[in-house]
Amino acid sequence: MKVAIVMGGASPEHKVSLASGRGIAKAISLLGHTAIPLVIDADGNWIDGQHEAIEILQACDVTIPAMHGEGGEDGTIQGFLDQLKIPYVGSGVAASAVGLDKHLTKAILRAHGIAVTPGIRLTGSDLAETESAIQKLKAAGLEFPVFVKPGNGGSSFGVARATDLATLSHAIADAAVLAPQVLVEQEMLGREIDLAVLQFPDGRVDTAPALEIHPDPEQPFFNATAKYDSSATRFVVPAPLEPALAGRLRRTAIEVFEVLGCAGLARVDFFVPADGEPVVNEINTFPGFTPASQFPRMWAAAGMSYTDVVDTLIRTAAK
Ligand code: DAL
Ligand code: MG
Repeated sequence: MKVAIVMGGASPEHKVSLASGRGIAKAISLLGHTAIPLVIDADGNWIDGQHEAIEILQACDVTIPAMHGEGGEDGTIQGFLDQLKIPYVGSGVAASAVGLDKHLTKAILRAHGIAVTPGIRLTGSDLAETESAIQKLKAAGLEFPVFVKPGNGGSSFGVARATDLATLSHAIADAAVLAPQVLVEQEMLGREIDLAVLQFPDGRVDTAPALEIHPDPEQPFFNATAKYDSSATRFVVPAPLEPALAGRLRRTAIEVFEVLGCAGLARVDFFVPADGEPVVNEINTFPGFTPASQFPRMWAAAGMSYTDVVDTLIRTAAK
């Protein structure tokens, strides 16, 4: 089989995508297939040229858009591949677009009775006027500390914890540089648990054992530094969970995947408060996929190697 791996892209997660893409390309070769990496540069241009890239993509049996964030995980590459009638791994246009938009994701999940992190969305003039942001925050019953994040970001780039008016105002301004809409969400004290959802070639959708994140205690939260530059962040998998909670998170993760119309794979991230109900924080329709990333680690706990997972992804997509 010839497998194209698209990686890079213009989002702030360019380098993360290169690391995911390289890991996947290596696994494709180990499976005895031909891996053809195609890189999109940080300005959003195919480094081989778009016409050449299209010819290469059309000559492959399946494409893996190993892209994170805008311009890759948001339905744009998926629409491009649909137009070219190229089979690809993962969610289609609509699920990718909704999945990368944290506000839309939450609106749809809420409409299906799935609990999400309480928060508000700021757009337009609210972004410049902290006073109107504060009014909205109060009306929604949010209290400091809150988290401020770009509405369509990833890898925690542009995310900040705000404890008062001044830090809130700075955080909104910083997030607004990265996105036209900004989310302000209630800080959720408790545990941070991720679920990996994988679709198999027979259509079955399942999860691996859950993973618990213990961020580097030197960092204020599981920020980009704790994610990528710290050796003190620990992932515990399987996360120690009561069977009832484990079952509930598993069912909710699959429900999120199905409600949003996802395909192939997704990582659903939860907060589990010490004395409350779990809430969905967000979904990643193409989660980080380096050999050290959460998604393959969770499947390793289910007895599937990194290469096994990549094999499942391409066999499911090629169906
Ligand atoms: N957005 C990053 C890559 C993740 O979800 O793992
Ligand atoms: Mg994300």
